[in-house]
Amino acid sequence: MWGGRFAAGPDAIMEAINASIGFDKRLAKQDIDGSRAHAAMLAAQGILTDKDAEAIREGLLTVLSEIEGGTFEFSTALEDIHMNVEARLKDIVGEAAGRLHTARSRNDQVATDFKLWVREQMDATISGLTALMQALLAQAEAGADWVMPGFTHLQTAQPVTWGHHMMAYVEMFARDRSRFQDARKRMNECPLGAAALAGTSFAIDRHATAEALGFDRPSANSLDAVSDRDFALEFLAAATICAMHLSRMAEELVIWSSAQFRFVTLSDRFSTGSSIMPQKKNPDAAELIRAKIGRILGANVALLTVMKGLPLAYSKDMQEDKEQVFDAADNLALALAAMEGMVRDMTANRDNLEAAAGSGFSTATDLADWLVRVLDMPFRDAHHVTGALVKLAEDKGCDLPDLSLDDMHSVNAQITADVFDVLGVHNSVASRMSYGGTAPEKVLTQVRRWKDALA
Ligand code: ARG
Repeated sequence: MWGGRFAAGPDAIMEAINASIGFDKRLAKQDIDGSRAHAAMLAAQGILTDKDAEAIREGLLTVLSEIEGGTFEFSTALEDIHMNVEARLKDIVGEAAGRLHTARSRNDQVATDFKLWVREQMDATISGLTALMQALLAQAEAGADWVMPGFTHLQTAQPVTWGHHMMAYVEMFARDRSRFQDARKRMNECPLGAAALAGTSFAIDRHATAEALGFDRPSANSLDAVSDRDFALEFLAAATICAMHLSRMAEELVIWSSAQFRFVTLSDRFSTGSSIMPQKKNPDAAELIRAKIGRILGANVALLTVMKGLPLAYSKDMQEDKEQVFDAADNLALALAAMEGMVRDMTANRDNLEAAAGSGFSTATDLADWLVRVLDMPFRDAHHVTGALVKLAEDKGCDLPDLSLDDMHSVNAQITADVFDVLGVHNSVASRMSYGGTAPEKVLTQVRRWKDALA
């Protein structure tokens, strides 16, 4: 492509370090879409004849069908997807192919292709998150009033509802969704026509190509347009946070599906067996989802590090952007799909959840609140009295509701029998009616709100 200035071809090692076709072939569709928009615009502007534009259009469609059909021969000597496509176009349509690169450069071309690819991934991720949220909503609605222990420090804290716990994840994944939606809006400016870095002397119409490719507008500064990889970094940043959320949820599923907890049963479809221990059903999908943050965060750090300190405008360093983003996007999509499938298929073991909900003195706070409300005790004193009652129950080897009124009176003489009403887990969760609280009624309000929002 640049033989005019060169007397010798590249060293084999030069070719190996320089070529990106091994991975950027994934941008073939975007590259051809971009070239078609560019050629149509050049023709509309009178820069290309209609005859050449038509030949290019037809030729590009042929190249695309060859690539999609698997008959295209990619060449490392041709370095990247842009030159592979252009060289093949030349075979097919001859001289007209050489006119396609008028008023553009591989610098704006690659920025455009990659943006189109990342934008598609953002849309796919948004859909994947929506599907996961819907699976969680179904779980939340079915078990809006099922009780389970809520934890802090992974120690039993207060009873909550299964629906409430599921809805906590809906909120987390909703924030992820909005991060991708937000990034998508910001990235949707078209670099095509920025050319190498300075724009072009041809009378191109960047608004037309931007519109043809579904962008909101052309990017306003040609230097920035070819230097910018923020869109990829924002994708990775949002993906990293999402992968962290997936990891936390996966960890809960691993714990909950263990023989010690038995809060949930994961379906056979999302579990594996052991080759030696016949009794085992392992939560491999959850474990792998828990681990995906590693490579996704790695990609985020890698690309930030590549971009750090790069002078304007394009530098070849930036070719190192794609593999990281491809890998992160593939693995995020897989993790989201696996999590959605697991959530849809899993069974919450209602009886085990309820039994656990009442253990560990989980309604101690309800008791303290009762002392404040009914006996008008300052909360700090109520905390102390409740602590003494917990200690008493612990010594007797029973739970709080199993203490007798006489037991209670040995700690505080004013306690009355209606205290037992607040010691049951169902009453406990039903009383948490504050906005955002765990009461089944409040959970169902949130379920309806999200169902409407996603409909
Ligand atoms: N393969 C290159 C990349 O991925 C395309 C842009 C090359 N531009 C250049 N001036 N060498 O970044």
